[in-house]
Amino acid sequence: MSRQDQIKKLIDLREQARLGGGLKRIEKQHQQGKYTARERIEKILDEGSFEEYDMFVTHRCRDFGMEKESFPGDGVVTGHGTIDGRIVYIFSQDFTVFGGSLSETYAQKICKIMDQAMKVGAPIIGINDSGGARIQEGVMSLAGYAEIFQRNIMASGVVPQISAIFGPCAGGAVYSPALTDVVIMSNKTSYMFVTGPKVTKTVTGEDISTEDLGGATVHATKSGVAHFRADDEDEGIMLIRKTLEYLPQNNLEDPIQTECHEPIDRVSDELNTIIPENSNQPYDVKDIIYKIVDDAEFLEFHRHYAKNIVVGFVKFNGRPVGVVANQPNFLAGVLDIDASKKAARFVRLCDAFNVPILTLVDVPGFLPGSKQEYGGIITNGAKLLFAYGEATVPKVTITLRKSYGGAHDVMSCKQLRGDINYAWPSAEIAVMGASGAIQILEGNKMNEITDPKELQNYVLDKEAEYVEKFANPYIAAKYGFIDDVIEPRNTRFRIIRAFQTLETKKCTNPPKKHSNIPL
Ligand code: HXC
Repeated sequence: MSRQDQIKKLIDLREQARLGGGLKRIEKQHQQGKYTARERIEKILDEGSFEEYDMFVTHRCRDFGMEKESFPGDGVVTGHGTIDGRIVYIFSQDFTVFGGSLSETYAQKICKIMDQAMKVGAPIIGINDSGGARIQEGVMSLAGYAEIFQRNIMASGVVPQISAIFGPCAGGAVYSPALTDVVIMSNKTSYMFVTGPKVTKTVTGEDISTEDLGGATVHATKSGVAHFRADDEDEGIMLIRKTLEYLPQNNLEDPIQTECHEPIDRVSDELNTIIPENSNQPYDVKDIIYKIVDDAEFLEFHRHYAKNIVVGFVKFNGRPVGVVANQPNFLAGVLDIDASKKAARFVRLCDAFNVPILTLVDVPGFLPGSKQEYGGIITNGAKLLFAYGEATVPKVTITLRKSYGGAHDVMSCKQLRGDINYAWPSAEIAVMGASGAIQILEGNKMNEITDPKELQNYVLDKEAEYVEKFANPYIAAKYGFIDDVIEPRNTRFRIIRAFQTLETKKCTNPPKKHSNIPL
C-alpha cells in the first residue's frame, strides 16, 4: 500500500468511526430531540480542542452473532479537550451503537481516560445515553461497570466529576453518575432508575410510567439524585461548562479568580430593611444573595429539591464561593432530613475542592414530628453538622435572623470552626423561639390563669420580655460567638474582606484513614 493509500485508509476509517451506528440511527436520535455523542462533545468543549482516543477499538464478543457486527469505537467516544482553555477528560456514550450498551472494551476506553485524568489532575465529564450492560457480553459487562465505579471512587475528591444524563441510564449503570459530584438530567429525554417500570410492575404490582419513575423532574424534586434539571441538552451543556468555572482542576489547586467588574464595597441600602418587622413573616433569601454577590449571578444546585435550604456557587470579587442559606420562604427555613443531606453534600463538595463557604442563617430549628424522627433526622442532621465541622476551607457565617437551638450549632457556628461569624442587628440567637420558651418556662403559671384575656396579655408580656432579653445578636456577641454585628447594607464588603483575610488560612484535620461521617 502506498503512503498515500495509507493516509486515505486512515481518513476512511476515521470517517466510518464518526458515523457511529450509521445515518439511520443518527436520524432517529435527532428525531427524539437528542444530539449524538460526538455532537455533544463538540458543544461541550472549546472549538477544535477535542483529541479522541481509541477510535478504532471494537468489541471482542463472539456470541449471538456479534462477531459479524462491530463498529469502530464500540459505542463510546472518549478523549480530552478544553473548557475555557482548561483541560478536561470526557466520555460520551453513543446510543446509535448497540444502544450505547457497555461492553468490556467500551469500559476499558472509559477507564483509560479516567486514569489519564487522574494522572494529570483534570476533571472528568461523563455523558450517559445507554441501554446499560451489553446483554451479549454478560458478566464481562458487569465487570466493566465495576472497573468504572472503582475509578469514580478513587477520583472522588481528587478531580471534579460531572455526569450528564441525556438518555436512558438504568440498572446498576446509575451508580457511576451517582458516585460523581454533579448530576445533570435533560428534561423529558432522560431517565434513571435501578429497576424499570416493567420489573417494578412484575415485582410490586405498581403501574408507573418511565417519566414518573425516573424522569428528570422526579430526580430533581423528589429523590435529589439530580442536581440540575435542564430544559434540554443545550442547557445541560451550558451547566456543565458553568459548573467547572467554579471548581479547580483538582484538589491541590484553588478555584481560579476571574475579573470582577463591580466595586467590592458596593452598598445595598435595601438590605437594611429587607428583613420583615414581623419575625414570623417569610422573605426570599435569594433576594439577599443576588444583592451581595458579583453580577447577581448564582448557580443554584438542587433548586427544586429541599427548597427550605438554598445552596450553590457565586463569586465575590471574582473568587468562587459556595453559599448555603436557610430559605424562610419555604417551610420557614426549617432544617429537615432532605435539607440536611442536600447542604451536607454541598459543603463537602466545596471543602473537597477548596471553595470557601458562606453560610447565611435564618433557621427556626429542626422540623419536629414522627416522620422526621423515624426517617432519621438525628443521623441526617448530623451529616450537616459533621460536614461543617470537618471542613477546613475558609468559612464565613452571617446570621440574618433566627438561629435557634441545635440548628444554630449546625449552621456553621463559631465552635464548628466558623472563621468569621457576623450577625445582622435583626439576628435572634437563642435556645428556642419566644413562644416555645414561654410555654416551657411559664407553663405552670399560665395554667393557673383562668381568664382568657388575662392569659393572652400575660403571654404577650412574657414573650416580649423574652424577645428583648434573648432574641437578639448581642448575647452571642458578648461571648465572642459572633465577631461583629454588621449593618446589612455593608454585607458584600464585609464578606469580601473576610474572605481576603482568610486566603492564607491554614487548617488541617488529624491524620486518619478516613472519617466516619454518619451516612
Ligand atoms: C445490547 C442493546 C441494549 C443492551 C439496547 N440495545 N439495549 N444491545 N445490550 N443492553 C440495542 C437494541 O437491540 C437496538 O439495536 C438498539 O440498541 C436500540 O434499542 P431500541 O430498543 O431499538 O431503542 P429504544 O426503543 O429507544 O429503547 C431503548 C431502551 C431499550 C429502553 C434502552 O433498548 C431497552 O430496554 N434496552 C435494554 C435495557 C436493559 O435491560 N439493559 C440491561 C439493564 S441491567 P438495533 O440493532 O435494533 O439498533 C444493567 C446492569 C448493569 O445494565 C449492572 C452494572 C453493575
